[in-house]
Amino acid sequence: MAEPRKEPREAWGSRLGVILAVAGSAVGLGNFLRFPVQAAKNGGGAFMIPYFISFLLLGLPLMWIEWTIGRFGGGFERSTAPGIFETVWQKNRFIKYFGVIGIFGPTIIFVYYTYIESWLLGYSVFALTGRYASCTDQPSMAAFLKGYQGLVQNEHFSGIGPAYFFFLVTFAVNILVIWVGLRAGIERVCKYGLLVLFILAIAIVIRVATLGTPDPGRPEWNVNNGFGFLWNPRWAELKEAKVWLAAAGQIFFTLSVGFGVILTYASYLRRRDDVALSGLTASTANEFAEVILGGSIVIPAAFAIFGPQVTQEIAEGGAFNLGFVTMPLVLQKVAFGQFFAFAWFFLLFIAGVTSSISLALPAVVFLQDEFNLDRKTASILFAIVTFNLCQVVIFFNGQGALDEMDFWGGTFCVVLFAMIEVVLFAWVFGMDKAWSELHSGSDIRIPRIYRFIIKYITPLFLVLILGFWFVQEGWPTLLLEKTPAENVPYVIGTRVLLIDLFAALAFLVWLAWRKRHNGEAAR
Ligand code: ALA
Repeated sequence: MAEPRKEPREAWGSRLGVILAVAGSAVGLGNFLRFPVQAAKNGGGAFMIPYFISFLLLGLPLMWIEWTIGRFGGGFERSTAPGIFETVWQKNRFIKYFGVIGIFGPTIIFVYYTYIESWLLGYSVFALTGRYASCTDQPSMAAFLKGYQGLVQNEHFSGIGPAYFFFLVTFAVNILVIWVGLRAGIERVCKYGLLVLFILAIAIVIRVATLGTPDPGRPEWNVNNGFGFLWNPRWAELKEAKVWLAAAGQIFFTLSVGFGVILTYASYLRRRDDVALSGLTASTANEFAEVILGGSIVIPAAFAIFGPQVTQEIAEGGAFNLGFVTMPLVLQKVAFGQFFAFAWFFLLFIAGVTSSISLALPAVVFLQDEFNLDRKTASILFAIVTFNLCQVVIFFNGQGALDEMDFWGGTFCVVLFAMIEVVLFAWVFGMDKAWSELHSGSDIRIPRIYRFIIKYITPLFLVLILGFWFVQEGWPTLLLEKTPAENVPYVIGTRVLLIDLFAALAFLVWLAWRKRHNGEAAR
């Protein structure tokens, strides 16, 4: 490096701190909203087979890969994918541009994720103040949500003002945590945040488990049957490719692998810090939060109150309906419902914050590392760009802007990026070197079968997923086949914006490398 760094490189405060930060990134809305819906829609208990296969063959390997190459790149003071990839494949001049995906993807997810997170803050306040108490059935609660999102004007909301207010607060909270830094901001928020989150989640699970038979006139509508509804396997559905795609997609999303964020977190580890056990611990904590806690709240509760028919319809309607429409209605019907409704939304809000700060970090750190900016300047620049992009999501949500960003940031980029990572790790770095790097300073030995899995099975699985996904969803979405005609201009507009962002990031990489090269030549 030509110039000395403006600020000394940050480091994690403790081993537990970094594990909790990664677990905080992983435990998010995906665990409590996305997972139960995916399971209910895709085979019930049978979903757990492709789910756990994906966990073992994709999730865990990618977790280890990201921890390992993140720590490796960090040893060269590189903390984001373009730089880290280059440390792994030093002779390749183009690999840094593939790394752009690891900044672009999380930034895009941050943009829409933060907006959804802000609804949770809004609803936490509404739960306490009784703002939606007059909505006592599905249609009126759904109308409340639509009004809040600014999709319609109705008796509940005359405009997007309240949603915008909560968005501003949420956005500011995120930027503040990043601004404060790795140890004082992210590590501390995740440590306390996860504790509160687990306590609230366990309290709600106990509340749901003790719902019993809420309507004595309908004894079959009870919590036990609710668990049965979610977990009874429908084996025949495993024949469908879409069930396997859904399971793999859920694993990526829930573990935050393939995003680029764990690379950045791990880059702040020291050379001899363990990664094997830490990666496993963070993944296990996430799975506990997802399968045990996430699986025991919305669906069983909805079943006990509304019965099988309506629960099925709600699950088909997606995660937002279940979280923002059904859950508040369910909790209106139980003792201390107002408190539990607050607990529900606030727990999701915390889960959201500990994830979104991780999504913001790669772009901020990229500016710090490659342009020698201090953390505060980098945070402000990031805030300016993403704040503008958020406007697109807020004002054109109804026209498909959010879905378009989710398609590119949350699905396509994730699988592609994972593919690049695994090839770099197993084939470029080479499995012998990769394996010893993974075990350097390690507290456990990973079963040797994983050498084979990481080298052959994970890439093969990824190719299959990418192929099936492209045929089933990618190509039709690319051609806007599923987009209603009136939304086409907005979706194209969003796409152009995303392409611009990607191009701008690639340009920044080019510029940073030129600067670095010139600096080195001048010395
Ligand atoms: N892993 C995060 C979630 O599950 C993004 O929501």
